[in-house]
Amino acid sequence: MKKVTLIPGDGIGPEISEAVVSIIEKSGAKIDWDVQNAGSDVAQSEGDPLPKRVIESIKRNKIALKAPVTTPIGKGFRSVNVRLRKELDLYANLRPCKNIEGIKTPFQDVDLVVVRENTEDLYAGIERQIDENTAESIKIITRKASERIARFAFDFALKNGRKTVHAVSKANICKLSDGLFLDAARNVANDFPNIEYKEILVDNLCMQLVQNPSRFDVLVLPNLYGDIVSDLTAGLIGGLGVAQGANIGDECAVFEPVHGSAPDIKGQNKANPSALLICAVNMLKYIGETAPAAKIEQALYDVFAKGRVLTCDLGGNATTTEFRDEIIKTMS
Ligand code: NAI
Repeated sequence: MKKVTLIPGDGIGPEISEAVVSIIEKSGAKIDWDVQNAGSDVAQSEGDPLPKRVIESIKRNKIALKAPVTTPIGKGFRSVNVRLRKELDLYANLRPCKNIEGIKTPFQDVDLVVVRENTEDLYAGIERQIDENTAESIKIITRKASERIARFAFDFALKNGRKTVHAVSKANICKLSDGLFLDAARNVANDFPNIEYKEILVDNLCMQLVQNPSRFDVLVLPNLYGDIVSDLTAGLIGGLGVAQGANIGDECAVFEPVHGSAPDIKGQNKANPSALLICAVNMLKYIGETAPAAKIEQALYDVFAKGRVLTCDLGGNATTTEFRDEIIKTMS
């Protein structure tokens, strides 16, 4: 039995986690879940939304599956997600984005990968109120983190038969910070002569992505642009309900979907568990449980291709539990 930390999260997190854990159990994967709650309820009961025990569990197990955790907007505690990535030095946020058969979108042939820097930029959380009408937020970009994420993107491209890496910035405006990010990416690009290196400004990228997304391959971006662009690219393949992600560091990996806790549909048995399920499949592959991973993946893509049992976000009317049961039935 492999021990894996499970953070069920809040909002729709517990509903989709329950569905995914049931599917994994039925797949025959040998997982011993180390369940660790985090978020606002935990903040009330333990005084910290991300207690030490959660970090220690992931450090011990080296691997986690994480459902979304709500971050209060404009006030309250700092994002659990950002803290987790920072405290475990999960510097690479990998968000592959590929069309799925059976899910109708305006595009075909989308097959790109967003590689988002995960530890700095405006997410460093260095903010202050200067006076009642002025606030300041500091954007941190370092050569070390920029080179590390660029190297991760090029390595990924090389190992996965990808051809092009685009470094994305707003270096025309943020000349020093994004300029440094680009300089670091150019240096790393020199070590990968077989991968084409290109640069693009983030605003132009957004326009090109909604016109002709198939021209992009691997994108490497600082934290904020990566966060925003990966929601956009999720939209290209059917939305947040199917958008997978992983946070990877040298010591640990935390697999989590792109989407948040979706408070608007919480507790309604409506949420699509697919994004978390695809993350779980990737997690199983990562720990060597390849046969159960393939079984779940095949069932999921069969259910999508048939298009008979789909959740509301994909134009169907199945509930979370009906969708879960359909995957389990398809696997057996
Ligand atoms: P969101 O991703 O939670 O929701 C955006 C829209 O997509 C909503 O209409 C929601 O119903 C829909 N949606 C998202 N996931 C879905 C799913 N699996 N199935 C069906 N529909 C789905 O983004 P929002 O509303 O901006 O954020 C809500 C909270 O989540 C915030 O507190 C935010 O900070 C947090 N968040 C947490 C993340 C994490 O834990 N990694 C990532 C992003 C946001």
